[in-house]
Amino acid sequence: MPVSKATAVASPNIAFIKYWGNRYHSLRLPVNSSLSMNLGGLFTRTTVTFDPALAADAVVLDRAALSPEASRRVTEHLDRVRALANTATRAQVDSHNNFPTGAGIASSASGFAALTVAACAAAGLRLSERELSVLARQGSGSASRSIPAGFVEWQAGTNNDDSFAFSIAAPDHWALVDCIAIVSDEHKAVGSTGGHAIAHTSPLQTARIEDTLRRLGLCREALLARDFPRFAEVVEEDSTMMHAVMMTSRPPLYYWQPPTLAIMEAVRGWRAGGLPVCFTIDAGPNIHVITLAAHAAEIESRLRALPGVQNVLRAAPGGGAELLGS
Ligand code: PMV
Repeated sequence: MPVSKATAVASPNIAFIKYWGNRYHSLRLPVNSSLSMNLGGLFTRTTVTFDPALAADAVVLDRAALSPEASRRVTEHLDRVRALANTATRAQVDSHNNFPTGAGIASSASGFAALTVAACAAAGLRLSERELSVLARQGSGSASRSIPAGFVEWQAGTNNDDSFAFSIAAPDHWALVDCIAIVSDEHKAVGSTGGHAIAHTSPLQTARIEDTLRRLGLCREALLARDFPRFAEVVEEDSTMMHAVMMTSRPPLYYWQPPTLAIMEAVRGWRAGGLPVCFTIDAGPNIHVITLAAHAAEIESRLRALPGVQNVLRAAPGGGAELLGS
């Protein structure tokens, strides 16, 4: 292959119905379907250059070399692309996040989505959105949901080809805003890959999985009908159910910190007082507070006034992963 280069951007996403646990770990086939919103305005921009002069892949994130473990994960993903394109050429990968690193936003979703789109284009592959989602999923499960635009459902599927994400509504369908309250920027002890691997050790996981289609159906319906009260209830229920599984896994995973719990309580109080607002929490102590655009400024200032809140980032529904013109 001659030197060949492409650049792509992708946004992270926040899951309203969470993915936790794999049925088949190496392919990242999830135990349950999930539903999310892309976080507009936040993105990873990645340039992939296949170059026959390179002896090994070289990966740079925000001008710093990745850890050996993270680099290996990128190389494994490039290997998937190389296998499809029938090439052995190594690549230079330059990646940049426009959101603060350590902000508790799952950068693996935007990272592997942007990497997938850029690497496929640079390798001369022309894949459909579905095929890109299948491929991104193998790098990081939630990355499958950062390929399509707006509000996205990832159907668990039964095999590699039918486990992919698709858009259920465009970004302008509903003016939701995610106010991300940062309470800690410490690196978490157990990341999501390790967490997925032990999810099945919680006796609560079976019940969570069995009930997923009910919660997913309620969430999809509330979202399509723009029914905030119903949406709020199921989003909080789903997040708390996942954390109950985490806390009862062996070893147990406690991601909440005291400010996390204080914000949960405050948000529930604000909702009881009539504000459209709810929370959801991923594998970390930071908390995603979801509201409607008309109330976002009010919610942000209330969050900033709470003890332990270091920063608040805001994101509206975002588009899908995109190739940038070269
Ligand atoms: O894609 P991963 O392996 O980073 O897993 C994501 C797990 C959660 O963020 C906790 C839930 C989700 O569905 O995004």
